[in-house]
Amino acid sequence: MKLLITGGAGFIGSNFIHYILEKYPDYEVVNLDKLTYAGNLDNLKDIEDDARYKFVKGDIADEKVVGEVVKGVDAIVNFAAESHVDRSLYDPGSFIKTDVYGTWVLLEAVKKFGIKKYLQVSTDEVYGDIETGFSKESDYLNPSSPYSASKAGGDMQVLASRRTFDLPVLITRSTNNYGPFHYPEKIIPLFITNCLEDKELPVYDGGTQIRDWLYVLDNCRGIDTVLHKGTLGEIYNIGANQEPEITNLELTKTILKLTGKDESLMKHVTGLRPGHDQRYAVDCSKIKALGWKSEVSFEEGIKKTVLWFKNNEEWWKKIKNGEYLEYYKKHYKS
Ligand code: NAD
Ligand code: DAU
Repeated sequence: MKLLITGGAGFIGSNFIHYILEKYPDYEVVNLDKLTYAGNLDNLKDIEDDARYKFVKGDIADEKVVGEVVKGVDAIVNFAAESHVDRSLYDPGSFIKTDVYGTWVLLEAVKKFGIKKYLQVSTDEVYGDIETGFSKESDYLNPSSPYSASKAGGDMQVLASRRTFDLPVLITRSTNNYGPFHYPEKIIPLFITNCLEDKELPVYDGGTQIRDWLYVLDNCRGIDTVLHKGTLGEIYNIGANQEPEITNLELTKTILKLTGKDESLMKHVTGLRPGHDQRYAVDCSKIKALGWKSEVSFEEGIKKTVLWFKNNEEWWKKIKNGEYLEYYKKHYKS
């Protein structure tokens, strides 16, 4: 099987490529990535000479490039996106271009070249936050940020392509991932690396918010399950369903403890994320019926992740002293 993975130089995409090449010795992977600030070929250094792997630099919104890379491909898994909620406040247009228009370009290629399967990697954020209970795949979408609204727009294109053109599509909607190669602008890698550098941890809006932390390999297994066993046209939620649920404040204290730092590093801030979503939780019974379950507990996953960042200082320091520093200075001015 030959897979086109888009956005494969990012956090989840690069983990997925490693996972696929390891699990399926006879699979080939083409990785189409624009190499935005979040795309990092260092994530894939160990496989760059693997004969089953090919990297192509390009934009999913570019019909010409997409038309070339889809040749001979059996399935597409689309990870490519602008993915950071905070950045979507400053530059919503780039989110619409990639997450909505780019998705449409890929779907057009599926139609034109008769690709057998297309899997859209989406997010629980399209449902909007919920006070209690669990979002189901059949729920109405109620996104809150330009990021999640763009992802919802992408999902709508995928669903419409099924109904109108009978395209062979699938959607996964996962909760917050964490693990190796996580770009250090998101809370877990930012806070771990800030602790390692004795820098402040900016806890937004009291830290009462809840996310359902899913170890990235559990998401890779989930996407693999849906790609191979999912019913075309269907959506599958993927979450860890942590019990008890973890607030950002509890998460921050765990990271401080695992890195041996004290709470004086915590800095409470407000106003950095207007429209801040309070809680996410998804019902995973559909994917569980396909035989998937999350295997890595938060306790185990967060320890592994802290260790990975401790052991890969060169990887994250290059980012934090480069693009991230520019972004931080521009928007946070301190
Ligand atoms: P990321 O920001 O780490 O990586 C995104 C990748 O896409 C980068 O390599 C980037 O260069 C590439 N890219 C961006 N625009 C592109 C374009 N126009 N053409 C080609 N490549 C482009 O993101 P991530 O955290 O790995 O997320 C991957 C996918 O999973 C996204 O679609 C995101 O919405 C979704 N998702 C992420 C999470 C999470 O917790 N990180 C949870 C649920 C869903
Ligand atoms: O739920 C899935 C989504 O998870 C994905 O679709 C997104 O691509 C991914 O970025 C992630 O979005 P979040 O906004 O939940 O992740 P982030 O790490 O940015 O923030 C998690 C929580 O931590 C949120 O409540 C805001 C808070 N936070 C975040 C940062 C960066 C802080 O308190 N301080 C921070 O510095």
